[in-house]
Amino acid sequence: MYRINENYLKLPGSYLFSTIGKKVSAFSAANPDKRIIRLGIGDVTQPLPGAVVEALHRAVDEMADADTFHGYAPDLGYEFLRKAIAENDFQARGCAVEPDEIFVSDGAKSDSANIQEIFAADSKIAVCDPVYPVYVDSNVMAGRTGSYDKESEVWSDVIYMPCTAENGFVPELPEKTPDLIYLCFPNNPTGCTVTKDQLQVWVDYANRVGAVIIFDAAYEAYISQEDVPHSIYECEGARGCAIELRSFSKNAGFTGLRLAYTVVPKDMVCGGVSLHSLWTRRHGTKYNGAPYIVQRAGEAVYSEEGKAQIRSMVDRYMKNARYILEGLKSAGYEVYGGVNSPYVWMKTPGQMGSWEFFDYLLERANVVGTPGAGFGPSGEGYFRLTAFGSYENTVEAVERIKEI
Ligand code: MLT
Repeated sequence: MYRINENYLKLPGSYLFSTIGKKVSAFSAANPDKRIIRLGIGDVTQPLPGAVVEALHRAVDEMADADTFHGYAPDLGYEFLRKAIAENDFQARGCAVEPDEIFVSDGAKSDSANIQEIFAADSKIAVCDPVYPVYVDSNVMAGRTGSYDKESEVWSDVIYMPCTAENGFVPELPEKTPDLIYLCFPNNPTGCTVTKDQLQVWVDYANRVGAVIIFDAAYEAYISQEDVPHSIYECEGARGCAIELRSFSKNAGFTGLRLAYTVVPKDMVCGGVSLHSLWTRRHGTKYNGAPYIVQRAGEAVYSEEGKAQIRSMVDRYMKNARYILEGLKSAGYEVYGGVNSPYVWMKTPGQMGSWEFFDYLLERANVVGTPGAGFGPSGEGYFRLTAFGSYENTVEAVERIKEI
């Protein structure tokens, strides 16, 4: 008789955004006359930039002709895209990242879930709390997290690093020594971030204790303040201890197109084995590459036209973030984030729990947000709103929240 991977049975409930989706669908079915405004999942709403659409059309035409048709993509991604990424995202900022250290993929979600595979099964992981659920759940599936305590909602073998208003949503170095440290800045869900000096502390720590930092920079395009690092490779020594994840979803609207990349520097060597060669092996075995047309679309993101269009898209979302931030502040709410990030993190009113506030807001204002508790125990008492809606919907949602 076959047996299943019992680690899956340890996962509590369903994936956060599936649970929210089901709750919203049930409410909508019971209240068909209500116009629901969704500021829950961080999904974009603006159409793809013109330069990207044109590149897609051109690439589709190439695929229709035997002379220019493309089959399987190279394992690590097309050179034209990796070169554009290395030059624009790293070298232009003074970071020494080469095209052959970039692994093109179909999403930062899958990369952040898969990267743990190349590390020992008994690696100790450290995560910010609250945290993007994928980092923890993928390690649960791999059997690395111990047992789950329903009461406290914590895993026995995970090192949690609380990020709350008290520490400015910046984690402190953990007491126990981890092997893998997941950091995401600008942060999902808190919308807060770190300065370069604060990140340097983490890089120094990882090098000192022999840990790897998995740095998720999916929201890099939203950084507006000078001293906030766009890449972990801006920190000295990061090439020896950090893997960086990037996405085309949030900056260029690729959530429905799928494109991302991971940087594994060649300097990362453990017991004589290069992590780069392990990830190359893994990529080659389990992945056949992002589609040619999508990689051409990604290349267009770095054209002069593409860059300008993306800037204006990010500016539009950040106008929403400002509206949410200022609107809720003026109504007396305690709010955070929203300056270098499309997420606003608010304290729930009174003693309301996050899920209680979720229900209250859905029923009374017909606005959907994301309960902070869904991101980990320290998220209890907080609530996340995204700036990815339309301006009109954002304004209406804030006004409805103010009214209740
Ligand atoms: C979120 O809402 O946290 C994001 O949509 C997560 C993701 O990008 O997968």
